[in-house]
Amino acid sequence: MNKILKIQNLTKNFGNVSAVSNISIEVEEGTIHSIIGPNGAGKSTFFNMISGVIPPSDGYVYYKDKDITGFESYKLPHMGIAKCFQITNVFPKLTVKENVWASIFSCSHKSKIDLFKSMNDFEAIDKETKKIVSDVGLSHKIDDKAEELSHGQQRMLEMAITLGAKPDLLLLDEPTQGLAPEATVEMTELIRQLSKKYTILLIEHKMHIVMEISKIITVLNFGEKIEEGSPNKIKNSKKVQDAYLGRK
Ligand SMILES: Nc1ncnc2c1ncn2[C@@H]1O[C@H](COP(=O)(O)OP(=O)(O)OP(=O)(O)O)[C@@H](O)[C@H]1O
Ligand SMILES: [Mg+2]
Repeated sequence: MNKILKIQNLTKNFGNVSAVSNISIEVEEGTIHSIIGPNGAGKSTFFNMISGVIPPSDGYVYYKDKDITGFESYKLPHMGIAKCFQITNVFPKLTVKENVWASIFSCSHKSKIDLFKSMNDFEAIDKETKKIVSDVGLSHKIDDKAEELSHGQQRMLEMAITLGAKPDLLLLDEPTQGLAPEATVEMTELIRQLSKKYTILLIEHKMHIVMEISKIITVLNFGEKIEEGSPNKIKNSKKVQDAYLGRK
């Protein structure tokens, strides 16, 4: 199986705090690979190094065998890596359609020449916009302003904006955080559907979701990788149980 993302010995020290220590993982194309661990385990730090928010102290990140270690965030969408941010990141005064349209447009013109787009291109972007809006279940809201949507719908819109970048690899940082139970179920189902088309690296606190949708789970504790494997293996791991109960 093709490994779309390879992380080797990734490390981050904040002064004396070793937030992430020597972590290696390989993410198989077309799967959901989840990162879990108790509070302070190093999940966000690990994610932030992959997505170019902070540079690693040591180690490597390879995407499709290209060394992207320390690449800044803004370079990644054009390479096929998109991160869905925890903080809602939509234009409130624009409609659902305009938000998604802008995302597709901005990621589709890779050179200045492309700025002079033909009508055909605009029609293609329109079509793509409708498809993505439909994929996230917002067709009935397509002409509503983002600010008029419920919180759950805004999170779906945020996902649509992320998909507008046409990623191969989706980095999802707690996509169900703050969602009501019904919206959580919808988001979980959406992630499951998206995994048919995209590779997904997921941080998620809600264990039942992780167990339900992941193919592989990596468990961090105190900045170290303590276990990795199928949901079944993780469920039955004494090391993982101890970590969650606060036993070293
Ligand atoms: N900018 C920073 N400066 C100093 N220490 C930091 C910084 N960011 C994170 N840390 C520390 O690194 C460790 C890992 O933090 P991190 O936020 O990555 O954990 P997490 O697994 O995402 O936790 P949570 O589940 O609470 O979100 C913690 O001890 C944290 O206090
Ligand atoms: Mg975190």
